[in-house]
Amino acid sequence: MNDAVAAAWTKLHALDRPTLAQLFTDPGRLDALSARLDLPGGAVRFDWSKTHLDSAAIAAFEALAAAVDFSGKRAAMFAGDAINVTEGRAVEHTAQRGLGNPDSVELAELFHARMASLVRVIHAGALGEIKHLIHIGIGGSALGPALAIDALTRDGAMVDVHVVSNIDGVALEAAFKACDPATTLIAVASKTFTTTETMTNAASALAWLTEGGVADPYGRVVALTANPDKAVEWGVDETRVLPFSESVGGRYSLWSSIGFPVALAVGWEEFAEFLDGAAAMDRHFLETDGAANLPLRAAFADLYYARLRGCQTRAVFAYDERLRLFPDYLQQLEMESNGKAVKADGSPVDGPTAPITWGGVGTDAQHAVFQLLHQGTNLVPVDFIASIAPGDELDPAHHRNLLANCFAQGAALMAGKPGSDPARAYPGDRPSATILCEDINAATLGALIAFHEHRTFAGGVLMEINSFDQFGVELGKEIAKSILGGGATFDASTEALLAEAGIK
Ligand code: F6P
Repeated sequence: MNDAVAAAWTKLHALDRPTLAQLFTDPGRLDALSARLDLPGGAVRFDWSKTHLDSAAIAAFEALAAAVDFSGKRAAMFAGDAINVTEGRAVEHTAQRGLGNPDSVELAELFHARMASLVRVIHAGALGEIKHLIHIGIGGSALGPALAIDALTRDGAMVDVHVVSNIDGVALEAAFKACDPATTLIAVASKTFTTTETMTNAASALAWLTEGGVADPYGRVVALTANPDKAVEWGVDETRVLPFSESVGGRYSLWSSIGFPVALAVGWEEFAEFLDGAAAMDRHFLETDGAANLPLRAAFADLYYARLRGCQTRAVFAYDERLRLFPDYLQQLEMESNGKAVKADGSPVDGPTAPITWGGVGTDAQHAVFQLLHQGTNLVPVDFIASIAPGDELDPAHHRNLLANCFAQGAALMAGKPGSDPARAYPGDRPSATILCEDINAATLGALIAFHEHRTFAGGVLMEINSFDQFGVELGKEIAKSILGGGATFDASTEALLAEAGIK
């Protein structure tokens, strides 16, 4: 840790700890900690006033950001420098949205043009009648598409998409039952085109097409990958391989050809709006300094709770059924990016890194897990995400009630309620942030996802870690391979489990 970073942390650890009630005696607090961004899909309000950030904390975090050269690192990411140092790669998901190294932006536009024309010819019937798409991918090759399709196709989709990730055949069988091989296209989505789950499912999907009477099953496969040679070697015709750049990380790849199922479901024009929404957030993140930069401000709060208040988890509740998969998506983004114990230079981190991200959908979660948030012994910072415009056409009472509940939870967590009966008392002073969108549409969703990508990156920079590798997932994969390969021996417990299951 350099001296400036050490000095910033000393200041942060020495901060006073006023309660939220005390902080709200400042009449300027709401204006200082909440902001409304005009974005292509409508305005979005980001309200961080119910967190414990105050001017002293923000000044100390801004000093930390300067000490770790946040602006320089942000510029390096947008310039296409190899900031993923452990893998020697650039980090160029923003180039997919039109911001970044001009060569990378140009390449992304070329790849998008290829993807757009394939989407259009499929819609026009060039591959025959296509009613269903089985999208096979896992992790970043599945979670983003699943979220976007679930959020944006509530009024129907141009093609019925089933996202299948798990190697458990139960998942793929369910998709087979819902589709007709005669009218189904398969997308094999894998950055590496080597992932066991995806390649196993892809082989079974080919067999299903063949058994279903499809004469040329490979003719019904589209590959979405940064390893096009491998896809061609596997059997996909080059004309149906949609490549993307190696510098787009798996969990940041929704904007690349991994977004193909989204574009097929909603149409290219709406997919382009999704990219535009993300680009607007990119511009805000790139052009705004200090705590006025909303993803950076959110990262300050995240770090405040993880490092200064010992919070081991953070919860995200979407008060909108359309965003029910948002917590799942965020889990990979945040935990795979920032769940690290060493800095980018290999030295141990100076404190806790990513908390465990969890969450759910409101109001369901109120009747299941909110007891712990209000009265439990864990302090959990909560994010609420909601939309002013309803996603349904029923009696407006539904949506008014939904929003009233969302805002009530934030108010209740903060205010608490004293009482003579300890079982019925609420301690209060529990933090939350609220993201209130004018509407949920493709552009807003793009902006929301990009906000979280940048928040995650900013957190990684402040903690001096590399948010873009994921070596922690490798050991388990290696052991699974050696189990299946035979010959290796393991601990007594594992051996007994393998024997009982008949695997060894
Ligand atoms: O195992 C983790 C991981 O590498 C993720 O980072 C990635 O999103 C996922 O596997 C799938 O990888 P691929 O797109 O190469 O199949």
